[in-house]
Amino acid sequence: MDNAFIATTFDWDHRYPTSWQRFSNKVLRKLRLTVRLSPAPSDMANVEARMNLFHLLEQTVVNKVPGDVVDLGCNAGDSTIVMQRILTELDPSKAVHAYDSFEGLPELTENDRNDNVYGKGYMAAGLELFSHKFRTLGLKMPYTHKGWFEETVPKDLPEKISFALFDGDLYESTRHLLPHVYERMSPGAIGMIAVYYDEKILAREGISGGYRSPGVKRATDEFFRDKQEKVSVLYANEYSNGYFRKL
Ligand SMILES: C[S@@+](CC[C@H](N)C(=O)[O-])C[C@H]1O[C@@H](n2cnc3c(N)ncnc32)[C@H](O)[C@@H]1O
Repeated sequence: MDNAFIATTFDWDHRYPTSWQRFSNKVLRKLRLTVRLSPAPSDMANVEARMNLFHLLEQTVVNKVPGDVVDLGCNAGDSTIVMQRILTELDPSKAVHAYDSFEGLPELTENDRNDNVYGKGYMAAGLELFSHKFRTLGLKMPYTHKGWFEETVPKDLPEKISFALFDGDLYESTRHLLPHVYERMSPGAIGMIAVYYDEKILAREGISGGYRSPGVKRATDEFFRDKQEKVSVLYANEYSNGYFRKL
């Protein structure tokens, strides 16, 4: 299946500098300065992260891994759109389930407060915006589960899961989700961890944007300490993604 829609839907193809940035870059070049201006990544992810999502989910469909697909921390639905498009084209029998408070992040516990990154209500995007995007694109509306993960997971999870996107940004959210979702993942199912940075594998020092969720790696590494699966790191420009394949 083609994946050009990732670059063209909304404003995801934001790598091309604006005319003002191109002009500034010419001036910088003339001045023999090596610095250049480039477009900022979108808040939630970037094209590279969506490409990783595309290839990981597509693999599970082509390999006929049993189960539905879950998006844990769907926000305004930009990743969910990629997921639904893939399933609509390759296997419409699989359902997409999208989970979010649709009110942004919860009250932080000490585990997340100490990171000094986020606060309650950050990244709030309403269910109406999510639904509007699907209507506008003429895409099948996924099942949505509004509420704190602590209330909707595991209660509203499908019996079997073939692919999961973990994108809760917080230590507590990731720690809550992983064991419940892992338990329902079929052998061969893939879990993608949206903001998993491992500086030993891919140093992000000096790269602006992206690195804002240190609690995700802490919770993920804790969970996998006694598991056979390994979390691998995927390049995603300013971001960094992790994934594992359930054995
Ligand atoms: C980075 S955003 C997700 C971005 C989205 N996956 C995308 O690619 O566009 C993180 C989302 O997780 C949600 N979230 C985090 N912790 C949560 C919790 N405990 N319960 C419900 N939602 C939560 C937030 O509301 C927010 O929308």
